[in-house]
Amino acid sequence: MAGIRERTYIMVKPDGVQRGLVGEIIARFEKRGFKLIAAKLVSPPKGQLEQHYADLSSKPFFPGLIKYMLSGPVFAMVWEGLDAVKTGRVMLGATNPLQSAAGTIRGDYALAVGRNICHGSDTVENAEKEISLWFPEGIVQYSLLQETMIF
Ligand code: PPS
Repeated sequence: MAGIRERTYIMVKPDGVQRGLVGEIIARFEKRGFKLIAAKLVSPPKGQLEQHYADLSSKPFFPGLIKYMLSGPVFAMVWEGLDAVKTGRVMLGATNPLQSAAGTIRGDYALAVGRNICHGSDTVENAEKEISLWFPEGIVQYSLLQETMIF
C-alpha cells in the first residue's frame, strides 16, 4: 500500500480540555483510522511549554501563549498511521479558526487563534522531537488484530 506510516503528536490545549472536547477529538482520530499509541492528561511545567514552542519565542504573542497553555491541563497524544502528520493537520484545520474549514476540529469548535483547542505537529521531524519531549517515558507498542488499518 502506498503512503508513509507516520507518528504525530496531537495535543488538546487547556481550552479544549475545559470545554470537554477530549473525547470528540479522540473519536475523530479513531474514526479516521489512526492508531492511538500514547495518551495522558498532564499539567506541564513552564519550561516544557517554552521548549515545545521554542521556535516562537521571539513572537509578540509568546508570553500570552505560554500563559494560556499554563491555565489548565493538556491532553497529550501520539497517533500513528498513513501520513499522520499531514492528515492530522488537515483534521485540525487552519491554525487561525477564522480560516478553518467547517468539518475540521477548529472550524467546528473554535473562534480565535489564541484559543484554538488543539496542536498538531507540522513536520515529521518536529513530530519526533515533540513525542520525545512529551513522552520521555516511551510509548506503548501493540499490534492491531484486525486487518482494517492501511499501513
Ligand atoms: S507564526 O507566527 O506563523 O509562526 O505562528 P503560527 O504558525 O500561525 O502559529 C504557531 C503557534 O502559535 C499559536 N499562536 C498563538 N497563540 C496565542 N495567541 C496568538 N495570538 C497566537 N498566534 C499564533 C498557534 O495557535 C500555533 O500553536 P500550535 O499549538 O502550534 O497550533
